[in-house]
Amino acid sequence: MLKVFKDHQELREAAAAVVAAQGEGAVRRTGVFRLVLSGGRTPEETYRRLAAPPYRDMSFWRKTQVYWGDERCVPVESGLRNYTPAKETLLDFVDVPGDSIFPICADGSAAAESAAMYARILPARLDLVLLGVGEDGHIASLFPRSSALEERERRVVCVRAPVNPNVRITLTPIVLREACFILILVSGVRKAEALKRVFAAEGDYHETPGRLVRDARWFVDEEAAKLL
Ligand code: 6PG
Repeated sequence: MLKVFKDHQELREAAAAVVAAQGEGAVRRTGVFRLVLSGGRTPEETYRRLAAPPYRDMSFWRKTQVYWGDERCVPVESGLRNYTPAKETLLDFVDVPGDSIFPICADGSAAAESAAMYARILPARLDLVLLGVGEDGHIASLFPRSSALEERERRVVCVRAPVNPNVRITLTPIVLREACFILILVSGVRKAEALKRVFAAEGDYHETPGRLVRDARWFVDEEAAKLL
């Protein structure tokens, strides 16, 4: 389902409201909210909105577990990790217990082992997965023509991305198909071509991985939607 907002300001307000509603609902139903954060810059506006009243002080954060959809295998000091902006714009401000935050271990060269280890801690039920989409139509670190798009067994894999940083760990389509709720945040004219390919009547998810989740909840601004 696609919803178009006038601008990123309106988009982030709506996205924060959805995250909070999903969080309160999951905690009410099951006692825990399992949230998967997206990398990239787009979600940071939503993270900042969640880090402010009224969302910041909501009680569901105490029962929230935080995971990531993908991570870049670079040193923490590189500033290119997905963990860092999520910590600085959201997790430093809300009451998620420290032992409920599960960054993907992306240190060292053993990326494949890190992927297997993450798969072991990643719960079977994920209440909300946040994603962005790249200009090439990638989601998480599932890039066009990647063999990870056809992964049939592993829930988390190490991939070599066509852009830097190129060694990455990513959830696979298996996890995305199982997720209870997926919300994809897209802003800006640079994403217009990708969105056009995602929602085209004909297309191939191997060329445009975003088509894997075209039936999920898409929040986009008018600039990103201009070719739809
Ligand atoms: C990453 C993200 C990636 C991101 C898109 C969009 O590690 O880069 O997981 O999938 O969501 O590349 O990024 P922007 O929001 O910065 O445009």
